[in-house]
Amino acid sequence: MDIKKIISEMTLEEKAGLCSGQDFWKTKAVERLGVPQMMVSDGPHGLRKQNDAGDHAGINESIKAVCFPPGVTVTSSFDRDLINTMGEYLGESANAENLGVLLGPAVNIKRSPLCGRNFEYFSEDPYLCGEMAVSQIKGIQSKGVGTSIKHYLANSQEHRRMSSDSRVDERTLREIYLPTFEKAVKEAQPWTVMCSYNRVNGEYASESYRFLTEILREEWGFEGFVVSDWGAVNNRVEGVKAGLDLEMPSSHGQNDAYIVKAVKDGDLDEAVLDKCVGRILRIIDMAVKESRPDAVFDLEDQHKMARKVAGESMVLLKNESLLPLPKRGRIAFIGAFADKPRFQGGGSSHINTFRESSALKAAEEMLGGAAEIVYLPGYSLNSDTVDQAMIDAAAAAAEGADMAVVFAGLPDSYESEGYDRSHMRLPESHDRLIEAVSRAQKKTVVVLHNGSPVEMPWIEGVDAVLEAYLGGQAVGEAVVDILFGDVNPSGKLAETFPLRLEDNPSYLSYLGEKDVVEYREGIFVGYRYYDKKKMDVLFPFGHGLSYTSFEYSNMKLSSSKITDSDDLTVSVDVRNTGKLTGKEAVQLYVAAPSGEAIRPVKELKGFGKVSLDPGETRTLSFELDSRSFAYFNTEINDWFVETGEYGILAGSSSRDIRLTGSVAVESSQKLPVSYSRNTLVGDLKDTAELAIIGPMMKAMEELFKSPGSDEADEAVTDEMKEAMFAYMPLRNLVTFGDGSLSFPELDAVIDKLNGK
Ligand code: BGC
Repeated sequence: MDIKKIISEMTLEEKAGLCSGQDFWKTKAVERLGVPQMMVSDGPHGLRKQNDAGDHAGINESIKAVCFPPGVTVTSSFDRDLINTMGEYLGESANAENLGVLLGPAVNIKRSPLCGRNFEYFSEDPYLCGEMAVSQIKGIQSKGVGTSIKHYLANSQEHRRMSSDSRVDERTLREIYLPTFEKAVKEAQPWTVMCSYNRVNGEYASESYRFLTEILREEWGFEGFVVSDWGAVNNRVEGVKAGLDLEMPSSHGQNDAYIVKAVKDGDLDEAVLDKCVGRILRIIDMAVKESRPDAVFDLEDQHKMARKVAGESMVLLKNESLLPLPKRGRIAFIGAFADKPRFQGGGSSHINTFRESSALKAAEEMLGGAAEIVYLPGYSLNSDTVDQAMIDAAAAAAEGADMAVVFAGLPDSYESEGYDRSHMRLPESHDRLIEAVSRAQKKTVVVLHNGSPVEMPWIEGVDAVLEAYLGGQAVGEAVVDILFGDVNPSGKLAETFPLRLEDNPSYLSYLGEKDVVEYREGIFVGYRYYDKKKMDVLFPFGHGLSYTSFEYSNMKLSSSKITDSDDLTVSVDVRNTGKLTGKEAVQLYVAAPSGEAIRPVKELKGFGKVSLDPGETRTLSFELDSRSFAYFNTEINDWFVETGEYGILAGSSSRDIRLTGSVAVESSQKLPVSYSRNTLVGDLKDTAELAIIGPMMKAMEELFKSPGSDEADEAVTDEMKEAMFAYMPLRNLVTFGDGSLSFPELDAVIDKLNGK
């Protein structure tokens, strides 16, 4: 495609037209110039390709496809290769379905456990989110299909999702909400970025020149096009000016007409519109070139892959030696989810699966006649009310069995795109059932199907908990693989499970007041908050058990002293000390020294997953770059590394740190300082500076250091005097002194300090 030539031959109307959809899923063709239509589709963990009536809520039918485990689950694998391979499968099927772009990954930060779309999102930690996003995008795009990383930006709630205004301070944006998109753009170049519905600091994301052009393109080098979330356009002309290229779905020509008028009125430079058109054409061209109309994909093979992904991602939260279960005896499967599991969420990511697997059926198939499975539903799938008769029957069946597995979780009505949860509990009928069964049967396992953290009031009474999350269509098989030990669990939590909702840092301001949502917890999201507050949690970030055990040893740092432009290599040996082959996700955290900036106790800056046979040892190594030590300094509007001793922590979870080391980092940057009459005496730390001001301070220092009169209160301690002196502005050298120093004299010294 000769893009320049095409643009030069397009009419104004054609250009404006190309910047919005033909319908729900397709761009417009410009046949006379050979520009074809391009079709896009949800995403993110399977195809929701609607050939007939389209919608953005998962209401109308889509083609039969494979539902892989959603974001929450696959991120818990802590496995870049796995999500990359899943991406390849998704890309392959999208390509075979003649799609140009698959609408995902969805990477918004989990600010609160209540967000209705947490099941689709990756993590509370931006580093983990970014790494997984890069791998998934690379996987999908390697098959010649584009991605649309979404939803840019600060779209961490569903409540009033199309109008809410996320008020986030700059440092928090830079450290928590922007980095996933930044890393994805810099390392994987998604073909498109989807801007979100909400406003950010008062401005619609779809109209923000700062986010869509200055940061996304000028700072990070994004080369693709920006597409609006479906219906996220407010003022189309402002959007074009900001860098929003494609409006989806169609606006039935209305917004196109506004664009045409704005150009004719001189309100919009046609060159700006041309840029949007050029960016859209470039991606259409890529899609055409990469399209493989003869590609085929094997649903069965994809189902197998979905099973593998689920098995490597589910998290074993607790296990008092009950799991894996023996493949014999009488086992009670309790809970309607055993038969009809919840394995995906509602809304635009909802897949029309070609097959579904339940644990009940999978266990019967796996065990043949070797073990007897007794099944009782225990609760109704259609109502929340506690049915005591169902619970009693289930408890009796559990009592009569050798062990019980209770399948519980969140029903569809509890979490979905479109709204947020109002609490963090399971349905009461599920909680009561678990309590009753675990009272009746000492050997009780709980399998959870939910897309985000839940409270577990019954945790002490059960032997084991498997967090299956939403497992995709092969969920039943994956659960049974783990329950009976065919797969050794290796998932780790990509989010903290707080003890109670009220412990969550966003609790006081989540949902906001009408449209205004202040992100008051700032950078202290997830474990960054719980660690800083030294709070107990139900299960910490990074936690996940295995059927084997691992020993960490031999942490090595490539250097004990580096500058802020050097990289640091850290290596750690991990040994499988148990009896089964297993995988361990090792996490590397960096702990900043206490300096001027308020920092989290530690932050995840590396991770790696390794498979080990019993007795086997392998070395994992991690690269830390300058960003691993930096925080975003708003004074210089840039990343800044403070000089100091940084802790390097290797852990099996954020609360199970196995090895620690440290490195001295020397900053080459100096923060700008300027002195005024209001500079505090205590801030003049540098000896050179003190030398200038020295004589003037001497007298004052002496006054503060003098023993004082006999009558002086004992409360006037040295500490108090020292603090009073340190926190005193320079101007008080004049006013508190003996009158011998004048303001002009002080100002002259301040000028000198400022290098004037
Ligand atoms: C969702 C997007 C989705 C789009 C198209 C929107 O409502 O927020 O994630 O890709 O619909 O279905």
